[in-house]
Amino acid sequence: MYKAPSLPVGTMSMDTLDEYSSHLPGAMVLVLDDEGVITQCNSLFLNETGYASSTILKRDIAVLSDSPLFNTRMVDNALSIGNRNIFKPEPAHLIMANGEILIVHVMPLRMETGQGLLHLLLLFNQEPVKEGNLIQRFGETMLTDDHLGAILLHPADSIILDISPLACRLLGAPKCSIVNEPLHHFFASTKEYKLIQNALAGGPAVRNHPMTWLHRTEQAGQTELLMDVGLFHSPLGLVEGAYILFKDVTNLRSLEEQVQRSDRLAMIGQIAAGAAHEIRNPLTAIRGFLQLFQKTMTVRGMSKEVEYTEIMLTELDRINSLVGEFLMLSKPRHKMQNHIHIDAVLRDIMPMVSSEALLHGVTVSWEWEPGLPFVTADPEMLKQVFLNICKNGIEAMNIGGDLTVYAQMEVNSEGRWLAVDIQDTGPGIPSSMLNKIFDPFVTTKANGTGLGLSVCQRIVHDFGGIIKAATRTEGALFTVMLPC
Ligand SMILES: Nc1ncnc2c1ncn2[C@@H]1O[C@H](COP(=O)(O)OP(=O)(O)OP(=O)(O)O)[C@@H](O)[C@H]1O
Ligand SMILES: [Mg+2]
Repeated sequence: MYKAPSLPVGTMSMDTLDEYSSHLPGAMVLVLDDEGVITQCNSLFLNETGYASSTILKRDIAVLSDSPLFNTRMVDNALSIGNRNIFKPEPAHLIMANGEILIVHVMPLRMETGQGLLHLLLLFNQEPVKEGNLIQRFGETMLTDDHLGAILLHPADSIILDISPLACRLLGAPKCSIVNEPLHHFFASTKEYKLIQNALAGGPAVRNHPMTWLHRTEQAGQTELLMDVGLFHSPLGLVEGAYILFKDVTNLRSLEEQVQRSDRLAMIGQIAAGAAHEIRNPLTAIRGFLQLFQKTMTVRGMSKEVEYTEIMLTELDRINSLVGEFLMLSKPRHKMQNHIHIDAVLRDIMPMVSSEALLHGVTVSWEWEPGLPFVTADPEMLKQVFLNICKNGIEAMNIGGDLTVYAQMEVNSEGRWLAVDIQDTGPGIPSSMLNKIFDPFVTTKANGTGLGLSVCQRIVHDFGGIIKAATRTEGALFTVMLPC
């Protein structure tokens, strides 16, 4: 038997109670009589629980839950303790129409109305708790995400509380030996430590700060990161924790470097074009007059001087061809687009390559598959490409060796190619040089210009081809691929 609570918390008309109960934000409202029978409920209650008003009204409140809070006597007891008129919401299980359980927070109220004293149960869905779970799950996801470096810290002493797998890999230790360690064990040697300390001490938060992380072992190298450091604040503004987040941007950084390099190359190209133009004209005049002198000297029998002019003319030709290479690199030029057979091009350069090889004690072998398709290119330019690569190979093997030139057809996902492999048995190309050798002015030779391979690359690219360099167990392998 339900005992009426002693004091009402408020007085309102029945209409106002109806209005009130239908507008309480997020609250399911049940109105009970003195016997604990449900006399009224709001639409939110029906929506959330799936009950129809016809099935739930006039039923005893106890059918909804076995929680003591749904026992009106207990409600009354709770309310009367310490003469409190307002009861703190308590969690309880509510049985829904489909038999499933809904966890609600229950707040009992008493209300004096025109129809006497009524009892209200305000039921709140677990919304605030759910939000808390969401934040918690968000945090957990960050700490388990394989692509995000996350470190959770105690705010006062910067002890590491939790850490994500990527951050463990960065710090080069398993989670168990990182957690509970102070941050400075891992970060004190970094340039950014001061910045981190400052942010943890309440200074400005760090956002997207670029950082190069040097791994503990040399083989692991370094990782380019963007770092965030910040504090967690409670709703009252107290510092509850701190975090460090990393994003691995190594790939982005190398892309940036490539862009910078090609910018630099474009600039070199422009300067080269200008310089080549200025050098060529006076050279033509000097060469012309020198040839005149040579004729006169020959007539006058000045054989020694003729010999000198001969040397001067050869050197001038060298400058001229160098300038020609500059121009080849930088200026858009007229190129012939013929259907050509690669074996004809290779046959043409054979004598030149062979005589150079002979000087260096190198054996050259030439081979190509029969019936190779033709490629669209300028034969003279292709000759220059193969000559340059063969010359490099021969120069690399200064104490004899084998140079192999092999042409074949290759089909891959990007199409059909005519591939020419030029392999030597020299020392190969050091891995630190491999991605630079096609840049102009990169040379390891005392008299080299470092232009040979950049000219080759430019020509091959102009014909839609690819040029690659690799180091094999024995020597270097250059592959020129042309679409066919
Ligand atoms: N077959 C090879 N084996 C080893 N290193 C090579 C080989 N080919 C090229 N290289 C390296 O690449 C560098 C650049 O070659 P590139 O042809 O562009 O210029 P170079 O040969 O030095 O000068 P130049 O071509 O003007 O004589 C060379 O200096 C050499 O260090
Ligand atoms: Mg060269």
